[in-house]
Amino acid sequence: MGSVLVTGGAGYIGSHVMAVLAGQGRRCVCVDNFSNSSPEAVARVRSLAPGAIALYEADIRDLAALRAILAKEDCASVIHMAGLKAVGESVEFPERYHDNNVRGTQCLLEALHDSSVRRFVFSSSATVYGIPERVPLDETAPTRPQSPYGENKLEIEGVLAGLAAGDPAWRVINLRYFNPVGAHPSGTIGEDPSDIPNNLMPFVCQTAAGRRERLAIFGADYPTADGTCIRDYIHVMDLADGHVAALRALDSAADGEVMTVNLGTGRGVSVLELVNTFERVNGIRVPRVYSDRRPGDVPVCYADATRARRTMGWSARRTIEDMCRDAWRWQSRNPEGYATAS
Ligand code: NAD
Ligand code: UD1
Repeated sequence: MGSVLVTGGAGYIGSHVMAVLAGQGRRCVCVDNFSNSSPEAVARVRSLAPGAIALYEADIRDLAALRAILAKEDCASVIHMAGLKAVGESVEFPERYHDNNVRGTQCLLEALHDSSVRRFVFSSSATVYGIPERVPLDETAPTRPQSPYGENKLEIEGVLAGLAAGDPAWRVINLRYFNPVGAHPSGTIGEDPSDIPNNLMPFVCQTAAGRRERLAIFGADYPTADGTCIRDYIHVMDLADGHVAALRALDSAADGEVMTVNLGTGRGVSVLELVNTFERVNGIRVPRVYSDRRPGDVPVCYADATRARRTMGWSARRTIEDMCRDAWRWQSRNPEGYATAS
């Protein structure tokens, strides 16, 4: 069986995907420029999983480097996760985001053109749906991204559809992730935000650890049971399993097939529910204060995860308790993330 080319493999989701693949004996070829990650993450994955991982420090916009890697390695499929992902930053620097995310993907495709790789799994996002008209969101819901980052994701999905239409040797799965949280149950790898976290779970973890004074809960007057926003949090290990299921689904897909699949649990959890669960399962306090709504937040967003079950035989298994426990194990064992001496 050929190797899996994993772009962005040193990142939060990529490191968990590689841990699962390598744990199953699949060889991974990781390409990352470490713009938002550290080689230490890959070293830790290697310590966890017996399968081989080849690591290349390279930018996906470097065509010559990608061609050299593909000529050397025997890859059968690609999981493309490399990208910039900060929504606010994408509003500030839309050209930088387009260049890295869209042009980067086009460059990767150009390099793959000369190789035998024709199976492509893409990290898309539920952010492509924008403000939901109704929930749960299934894959036929209208797409109306609200940021350059979301537009990048949709544009790449379009590029991949065009690719498979023009050359039916390709088989593509776009995975639209909902809200990935948590960490590997060993506490060895996890999410390591380089700045003050924007996302809820890393902020909760850093507040519990005393790195932040208190969590601001953005809005308590939403039209939900407890007044706080509802999201579909998905354990990163379930998400990683979803990539393995996607590779398997590509094996039995028809040539030229392009599938778009939500990866979520199908269950909405409020901000308060998540914070209270975190306190309960970890026996630690998370000081919090209610503050104004965060501009652009939607009150309720969760997936209809039926298609993933039907087409890939995948469903999320881990609970919100698992997510909170595993996120805290990673945080408490690595208070400074990968900068913490191991
Ligand atoms: P991350 O920043 O931890 O990982 C992305 C990795 O890509 C990093 O290691 C970074 O160094 C690398 N990278 C970025 N640009 C690159 C380039 N030009 N060349 C080579 N490497 C490059 O982010 P993540 O949370 O692991 O997300 C992975 C993917 O999933 C991204 O495409 C992201 O947009 C998507 N996604 C993430 C979430 C989420 O909440 N984390 C939600 C939906 C979709
Ligand atoms: C954000 C991104 C989205 C991305 C998703 C998963 C924006 C506008 N959207 O969405 O593109 O796909 O993350 O990575 O950035 N919250 C607090 N206090 C905090 C942080 C968050 O109350 O300190 C609340 C938010 O208001 C929200 C919920 O927690 O209601 C979840 O927030 P977050 O983790 O940022 O995810 P999303 O808002 O879904």
